[in-house]
Amino acid sequence: MSGARAARPRSRPGLTPPWRDRQRRFSWLKTLVLAGACLPAGSIVFWWTTGQLGALPLNAALHLSGIWTVRFVLLALAVTPARAVFDRSRVVLVRRMLGVTAMVYALGHFSLFIVDQNFVLPTVALEIVKRIYLTIGFTALLGLVALGTTSTDAMVRRMGRGWKRLHRLIYPIAVLMLTHHFLQAKVNVSTAVFAAGLFVWLMLWRALPVRLRVRPVALAGLGVLAGVLAAGIEFGWYGLATRIDPWRVLMADLDISYGPRPAVWVGIAGLAVALLAVPLRPGAMLAGWQGINTTFRKIPLTRARGGS
Ligand code: HEM
Repeated sequence: MSGARAARPRSRPGLTPPWRDRQRRFSWLKTLVLAGACLPAGSIVFWWTTGQLGALPLNAALHLSGIWTVRFVLLALAVTPARAVFDRSRVVLVRRMLGVTAMVYALGHFSLFIVDQNFVLPTVALEIVKRIYLTIGFTALLGLVALGTTSTDAMVRRMGRGWKRLHRLIYPIAVLMLTHHFLQAKVNVSTAVFAAGLFVWLMLWRALPVRLRVRPVALAGLGVLAGVLAAGIEFGWYGLATRIDPWRVLMADLDISYGPRPAVWVGIAGLAVALLAVPLRPGAMLAGWQGINTTFRKIPLTRARGGS
């Protein structure tokens, strides 16, 4: 047996509490993420019971639980880039927790919809069949449940290669979830545009050649591109789905006198990742410059000076 294999940590059989790592050691990271996962639900319950959710508390809770489902899906998708860009392998520990949390919030969101329909299940079913935005949301929910319930170690072992194939469904699920978000948001799609822009960033990062994925310059370019594409999505939405002039929305994106709009925030978030990558991965920055230097050194001196 090779040394590397012998050193690989093995998970012990039995149920591991969510605040412990695979070796059942206490993990601050997992504990903090667990607390962060419970916080929005706790806040919703607290605001509801203390009358701070407005005139229509059920609607507000439905809205908030939907928003948090989207956030947790995006956070789960951000784990792989975070591990690579910030060189923090331990963040992988919380990916499963974030995914399962997204499923739990989606189930809570759906349960609130059932409450909204006065627990009349045939009406719930009819609404899902009749209204395309609910059909889309329900499909996304079924997808999240399929991924959440197959995320145990035992299922990973039992499903073998099929597990990875199944869990790649998270990408189309995220697209469905964002479509539902846009359709439900109706006129003000700011949060949906921001979420879609972050999703675009996460997808483009995965499409980058592996050597560029940690380079601050490439990440800065990616941030700007994701922001531009988010503005394009917003433009397309207003142009196709509403009567609002999309050019006016685009002009508003360029005018920051009222504060940055969602597409601009996507760009800012992308640039922040690139900036954070500089101190956390100085090696990647150096590698970038070395790459440029090597390229220039390969050009004959006469050509580099403009000679023939
Ligand atoms: C993964 C699955 C789902 C996600 C991520 C999700 C997400 C969201 C989000 C973000 C919103 C807020 C839209 C906005 O106002 O900006 C929302 C609203 C809503 N969702 Fe979902 N949803 C999901 C599944 C479902 C399902 C299965 C149903 C019911 C069958 C449903 C019913 C609704 C309703 C009725 C609203 C409107 C609430 C309001 O008036 O603000 N959703 N959803």
